[in-house]
Amino acid sequence: MLIEGVRMKKLLHIIATPRGEESRTLRVTEVFLQEFAEKHADWVVEELDLSKEQLPSLTLKRVDGKYLLLSEKDLNGELKEAWQEIIVQIERFMSADAYLISTPMWNFSIPYTLKHYIDVILQPKYLFRYTASGAEGLVKNKKMAIITSRGGDYTDAMRGADFQEPYLRSVFGFVGITGVTFINAQPMDMGETLQAQKIKEAQARAKEVAALFVSV
Ligand SMILES: Cc1cc2nc3c(=O)[nH]c(=O)nc-3n(C[C@H](O)[C@H](O)[C@H](O)COP(=O)(O)O)c2cc1C
Repeated sequence: MLIEGVRMKKLLHIIATPRGEESRTLRVTEVFLQEFAEKHADWVVEELDLSKEQLPSLTLKRVDGKYLLLSEKDLNGELKEAWQEIIVQIERFMSADAYLISTPMWNFSIPYTLKHYIDVILQPKYLFRYTASGAEGLVKNKKMAIITSRGGDYTDAMRGADFQEPYLRSVFGFVGITGVTFINAQPMDMGETLQAQKIKEAQARAKEVAALFVSV
């Protein structure tokens, strides 16, 4: 994007909670975005709210397209047509210079809207490719911050039940995003005092991360 002849870089903010004003995750995100805007005047933030977005279903035809790409052929005819909405989402994702994801933990992992989004964009030829020496991620030199909130506390005894952070690290690492920073607010549903304290702690960390996020 060009503003007065200067190329603005883009942070794509992907929102995976439907709770809007009620969201604890977004209370942490707010602080991140405020600090980010103050420290990075040459960046714009684009919002992708997954509970408002009409993502394409992965129908048989669209999945056939994926296998065609995996066999290193190009999409054409009906399959190309069926893939248009997927390409729109991929291009939007790839047009960003960095990413911020705001997501609650749902059933030890991520909400289905975020899983749907990942299933849509994570496509061969676009986000990764297989080579003789293994898979190669095609999303190069881009950073990602992920802000989560969880009802319980997964820092200690419950650590093994956290399928959210390891899953997201694997998925985005696979496509080449290795610099992923997590800010986890937890526990959110074990009393109001603890919730308030942990949101405050996560906000302080969000401020720190946002200040340095794309500069180092
Ligand atoms: C469908 C659903 C599933 C949830 N599953 C978990 C879970 O597995 N573990 C957990 O600690 N909290 C779970 N929670 C609680 C949320 O992670 C927690 O309340 C979080 O702070 C909500 O974030 P939000 O206000 O940004 O939506 C779940 C909440 C919902 C609505």
